[in-house]
Amino acid sequence: MINLILMGPPGAGKGTQAQKLIAEFHLPQISTGDILREAKRAGTPLGKQAASFMDTGKLVPDELVIGLVEERLGKPDTRDGFILDGFPRTVPQGHALAAMLEKHGLKITRVVVIDVADRQQLVARVTGRWSCPKDSAVYHLKNKPPRAAGVCDLCGTALVQRADDTPEKLTKRLAEYDAFAPALIAFYRSQGLVTELDGERPADEVYQSLKKAVGR
Ligand code: AP5
Repeated sequence: MINLILMGPPGAGKGTQAQKLIAEFHLPQISTGDILREAKRAGTPLGKQAASFMDTGKLVPDELVIGLVEERLGKPDTRDGFILDGFPRTVPQGHALAAMLEKHGLKITRVVVIDVADRQQLVARVTGRWSCPKDSAVYHLKNKPPRAAGVCDLCGTALVQRADDTPEKLTKRLAEYDAFAPALIAFYRSQGLVTELDGERPADEVYQSLKKAVGR
């Protein structure tokens, strides 16, 4: 069973690696970033509340995020495994996740932290990123261009750039990561769940290490 948490700084490759796991193992991906962006696009009350935080590179308050993950984890497709991408981000979110999993008789099998220490590499990755708003496929102008310019390979939808993918907002997002992630990693390390991967390697190499980490 793969009940995986993917962690790592913005641009580390969490979404990219999640997509590879989905293609091979058909697991549901629960990306709080994607859910929040969709809520923002749809103009729902949650989206409106989250927007002011996301637009400034801040984390959205725990209580908003926890509720939406609880709802998603309650769906039956998570019983055969799942990938949490971008959740939890804080220790209170980690505790809330443990409580919701216990309710469903589930537990986390591995926490993989994708490390990219070279911050310039993160800037280049996020400023060159284009993604599909429909199926969350991720591209990069240089590293992974779509087959036809500006269009998703999988579904033909026009690709978009994220509003928070500017160098200034990335600096703020990295500061949030540095403020909250170490304590969360320590929380999972104390449970013997953490594997750290070098995310500066090509995405296919990272994926081979990821598969080993989840026992495949
Ligand atoms: P979220 O959407 O989760 O963004 P993030 O964590 O900042 O991560 P990214 O999506 O930017 O990066 P990634 O690691 O997935 O990289 P990717 O694979 O796309 O969160 C956004 C916002 O929502 C937050 O700031 C916050 O406001 C809010 N939020 C979300 N969850 C929250 C929570 N739990 N609590 C509170 N607030 C929350 O790759 C990036 C680029 O690099 C791509 O172009 C890709 O092609 C390329 N690339 C990937 N891997 C490689 C590689 N190995 N080599 C070269 N290029 C690569």
